[in-house]
Amino acid sequence: MFESSPRPVPPTRFLTGITTSGTPHLGNYVGSIRPAVRASLADGVESFYFLADYHALIKTGDPARVQRSTLEIAASWLAAGLDPQRVTFYRQSDIPEIPELTWFLTCVTGKGILNRAHAYKAAVDRNTAANIDPDSDVSAGLFMYPVLMGADILMFNAHQVPVGRDQIQHIEMARDMAHSFNHRYGDHFVAPLAAVEESVATLPGLDGRKMSKSYDNTIPLFAPRAQLQKQIAGILTDSRAPGEPKDTEGSALFQIYQAFASSEETQLLRQAFADGIAWGDAKQRLFERIDQEIAPMRARYEHLMAHPEEVEALLLAGATKARATATPFMARLRQAVGLRSLGTAGAASGAIAKSNKAAGASFKQYREKDGLFYFKLAHGKAEPLLQSKGLATPQLAGECIAQLLRDGSAALEALAAHLAPVNDPVAVHQALVQLQADAA
Ligand code: TRP
Repeated sequence: MFESSPRPVPPTRFLTGITTSGTPHLGNYVGSIRPAVRASLADGVESFYFLADYHALIKTGDPARVQRSTLEIAASWLAAGLDPQRVTFYRQSDIPEIPELTWFLTCVTGKGILNRAHAYKAAVDRNTAANIDPDSDVSAGLFMYPVLMGADILMFNAHQVPVGRDQIQHIEMARDMAHSFNHRYGDHFVAPLAAVEESVATLPGLDGRKMSKSYDNTIPLFAPRAQLQKQIAGILTDSRAPGEPKDTEGSALFQIYQAFASSEETQLLRQAFADGIAWGDAKQRLFERIDQEIAPMRARYEHLMAHPEEVEALLLAGATKARATATPFMARLRQAVGLRSLGTAGAASGAIAKSNKAAGASFKQYREKDGLFYFKLAHGKAEPLLQSKGLATPQLAGECIAQLLRDGSAALEALAAHLAPVNDPVAVHQALVQLQADAA
């Protein structure tokens, strides 16, 4: 028998959500879609991207808009190159564990903390300034927004959450929730960190202010070519005539160009500004440059918009993948907080779970005459539920076990190469859930 090896360093988990209440615009593309798709291609990361449609209900009461936006946003991400094989791409409302976890977290979150959340506070401040009831027109959904977001993040134990600056406070709140829960119920959650990309541009909109739906100054990401051209023609410029040198500083047109162009191209446009390029010509250059990047994606976008059933199928597959983690994890959390079967030992005596352990399956590591290292998951001497193949090192065996304990049966697929065929995946699943609960 060998001692089990230290736990391996798991890949960094990135997770981010997009509220499904609008149509993606160039600002979303530059600020979130493009960097996220790029980041998802890196090694050593595991990415979770989801459509935050429960969050959308806080912002809009228009069902058709929620549905339409969900399709548009999903199609945009896929068209921009998100690979659903590589990442876990799902719709929040397909994961019933999330609202359940929201309740658990609600019960460990101070109301006073939520009083201080920016979005809620801003609404209260507006009402107070207008001399009306501070909570006038504020839904409890808006108030609870940070808890739902905390559940999104903690459900998958994300390490890093790529967000805009306005969301940093929410990530800090999720950290607080993780700590409070862990403090009360044992170590279950990773405390997440906000990943704010300093280098990512905030794109100005048509009027020069930040491109945002609330300013009504956006350029849709996948407008047809002709419409894109027309929109770009509408970007606000000063009144300098052709031949007069133009300022790049404070020029929305220049900044948007910069977000798409290489530094050489940007340098050339800078020179053209100094040389007095006509605004019409500058707009044409901007249009061509953006379209060069967007056009190949537009074809895929239009295809997906015309075939929503393809998007639906991808999202449902994503939900299955996500729930392979969420379901066993939620089972463990239910155990931890005391939502337990009354049939399990300890319900009457208070001696919890310990006696289950004796009856439950456990992992054993060993070496065979062939010199290779093995592990199995078994109830005592009974036929193993899970049997490894011969592995080169005890470390590898330890890593496999750690992964199974961490991810539950979701790890089976990833570890398939190291495992003998599994006869009864349901029994394996149950045994792993029990081990996770015992460790709780
Ligand atoms: N609140 C985020 C926004 O409006 C969307 C969101 C919901 C989110 N849940 C999340 C982002 C979890 C990151 C992680 O932009």
